[in-house]
Amino acid sequence: MQNQMGSGISLIGVGAATPPAALDNGQMERLVDTSDDWIKTRTGIRERRIAGADSTLTGLGTAAARNALEMAGVSAADLDLIILATSTPDDLFGSAAAIQGQLGASQAVSFDLTAACSGFLFGLVTAAQYIRTGVYKRVLLIGADVLSRWVDWSDRRTCILFGDGAGAVVLEASEQDQLLGFEMRSNGAGNCVLNLNYQSEEKELLPGINVSQGGYQTISMNGKEVYKFAVRKVPEVIEKAMFYSDIAANDVDWLVLHQANLRIVEAAAQRLKFPLDKCLVNLERHGNTSAASIPLVLNEAVRDGRIQPGHVIAASGFGAGLSWGAAGFRWGKG
Ligand code: ACO
Repeated sequence: MQNQMGSGISLIGVGAATPPAALDNGQMERLVDTSDDWIKTRTGIRERRIAGADSTLTGLGTAAARNALEMAGVSAADLDLIILATSTPDDLFGSAAAIQGQLGASQAVSFDLTAACSGFLFGLVTAAQYIRTGVYKRVLLIGADVLSRWVDWSDRRTCILFGDGAGAVVLEASEQDQLLGFEMRSNGAGNCVLNLNYQSEEKELLPGINVSQGGYQTISMNGKEVYKFAVRKVPEVIEKAMFYSDIAANDVDWLVLHQANLRIVEAAAQRLKFPLDKCLVNLERHGNTSAASIPLVLNEAVRDGRIQPGHVIAASGFGAGLSWGAAGFRWGKG
């Protein structure tokens, strides 16, 4: 069994940070040819938080991390590892080390992990491997994205969907393993339906020697194809993760899906026979915050008391890559 080697892991703290500025559907109507009614009916989103020019991914990630460390009662100086799941670092070389520096986590090694909207889920499994092998005891996992930087604000098919934010969890080695099981998948053949590609601009350095010095395009998405992928693959991967976790749907207290679209949450819940009131949803206020969406909604539910220590959570991330995955875990110290 994949979950029976080495030390166990516990999720002992969660935190979040979002930029103060909100952009609601009424304001969207002034930007593109859309309506509050269309956006609410097709996606469930009412507003999203948008990072201004003075807001950085590093700043949001650091604030979320501090919040999670405080709940966990863990000092930054005691962290062994920081993983930043993001597709939108401030620095193409990675922003995890900048967060490590701002936190003063002097003993922690840090790196970025890119898996779009699956980033937090993939990061959770990655963090667990380091703890289970006994290499590290305390890991900070941050999921953060500022997709507003990379949205085409004149494209109504995509700009209405995304918001910015950061969430974080603290993981610690424990007697009992609270990560019950997981499954992760990739399909590069589907990369064309959702991407944020490099845009090459050729420059001649010397006669016969050219380099490419471009930037990035804006988000390109075939919404219908991504929707079909999500409603087919998400329930399937959750069932796999529940199988590896040795739990049935009845054992699950909360279903936590990447917050992309309310219709995707409803379709997955229906297929898995989960009542909707067991699904955690906050996308109406945040839109799709990519790698931040799972810890953002987790943070709300832990802090308002819906999630209690010992509750079983089935979580699933999915998105560009294509990538998707799911994990079953128990909240709190094991
Ligand atoms: N306002 C008004 N009309 C719109 C808008 C808008 N914002 N956007 C599209 N339309 C129109 C289209 O032009 C189309 O009009 P037409 O029929 O005259 O051509 C009509 O609405 C229907 O468009 P569809 O694209 O078929 O709409 P659909 O019901 O599929 O909803 C949506 C679109 C919301 C994007 C949906 O497909 C979806 O949620 N897809 C999944 C996206 C997702 O989950 N991404 C997650 C991963 S993100 C990541 O990894 C970074």
